[in-house]
Amino acid sequence: MALKRNSDQSSSSKKPSQSKINTEERSLLTATTINEENEQNEESIRPHTLADYIGQKDLKGVLQIAIAAAKSRQEPLDHLLLYGPPGLGKTTMSLILATEMGVNCKITAAPALERPRDITGLLVNLQPGDILFIDEIHRLNRMSEELLYPAMEDYRLDITIGKGQTTKIRSIPLPRFTLVGATTKIGSLTSPLRDRFGLIQRLRFYEPDELTLIIQRTAEILNCSITEPGATEIARRSRGTPRIANRLLKRVRDYAQVHQQEIITPELAATALNLFNVDASGLDWTDRLVLGTIIEQFKGGPVGLEAVAAATGEDARTIEEVYEPYLLQIGYLSRTHRGRIATEEAYRHLGYVI
Ligand SMILES: Nc1ncnc2c1ncn2[C@@H]1O[C@H](COP(=O)(O)OP(=O)(O)OP(=O)(O)O)[C@@H](O)[C@H]1O
Ligand SMILES: [Mg+2]
Repeated sequence: MALKRNSDQSSSSKKPSQSKINTEERSLLTATTINEENEQNEESIRPHTLADYIGQKDLKGVLQIAIAAAKSRQEPLDHLLLYGPPGLGKTTMSLILATEMGVNCKITAAPALERPRDITGLLVNLQPGDILFIDEIHRLNRMSEELLYPAMEDYRLDITIGKGQTTKIRSIPLPRFTLVGATTKIGSLTSPLRDRFGLIQRLRFYEPDELTLIIQRTAEILNCSITEPGATEIARRSRGTPRIANRLLKRVRDYAQVHQQEIITPELAATALNLFNVDASGLDWTDRLVLGTIIEQFKGGPVGLEAVAAATGEDARTIEEVYEPYLLQIGYLSRTHRGRIATEEAYRHLGYVI
């Protein structure tokens, strides 16, 4: 695609570069932020019931039925696989399921389950009905995964004892439990593991009106005043993701506090977020770097992921799992079998004349 950069662009569409914000102001804000965030940890703003969980209507509908049916049969829930980009509420949903079912939820992640005894230790300590939540389940190693198969299917742990000709398999019965697996990469799951989940559900990016509600709810918990248009302005820049919405709200709250503003208005939110280099479409510095690199160094693509990673100095997995899903969702990037392509919308957003 032929291009020329338009020199009259607003700050949101400038060439990818670190924003020229007042460094003193930024360090003041960051210092306030770190202390406050330690106090106000994520747990206090997590919804605890299905009713408090905003959005994801389809997922909630499916789970409401599964919960009611399991309760009436006095059985644990079916094993559940949740997939979707980071920060959309997978861990939160797992904790909510435990609350709704009146059971415990043990949380772990595949990289912490390296040795067979890591997973067996967790399984033998489960109480009947408990939920075992395994994050990043696509990263389980083969041994741990194979231990899970009989555990999921027959509530049984098969342990190999001895070596060579004296090898014996001992089966240990397990209580009936529910495995909730979470992954950002459903395609990387082996099919035997995927097939053992009774429910497989995708989490979607949130709509701006849902994020507005999430921001208003969090603002209330954090005891900070925000107008509805103020919440909408933050929502618009939150990449369809509650975790980002909450994080941006905290940044804006810091800004308001430092500038002695009592209420967060849309103007204040926009000024604060521009300062933090989050543009009107919610793109941050890395998003703009990725798109700008595809446009400038690879003539807009198609270009392979590894080449983009090498040219930007970013990790390929992070680009693929964290940055790309939203760029694809808003139509700034498209993925073809020949590689990634920056769309016309991306050119326009970054201020290129096509
Ligand atoms: N539906 C929702 N309603 C309100 N708040 C939500 C919702 N979903 C998520 N959140 C908020 O967003 C934050 C991130 O959610 P969570 O940790 O569950 O995401 P995740 O999908 O597990 O992310 P990751 O893939 O990075 O582990 C939570 O602290 C929670 O407060
Ligand atoms: Mg999580």
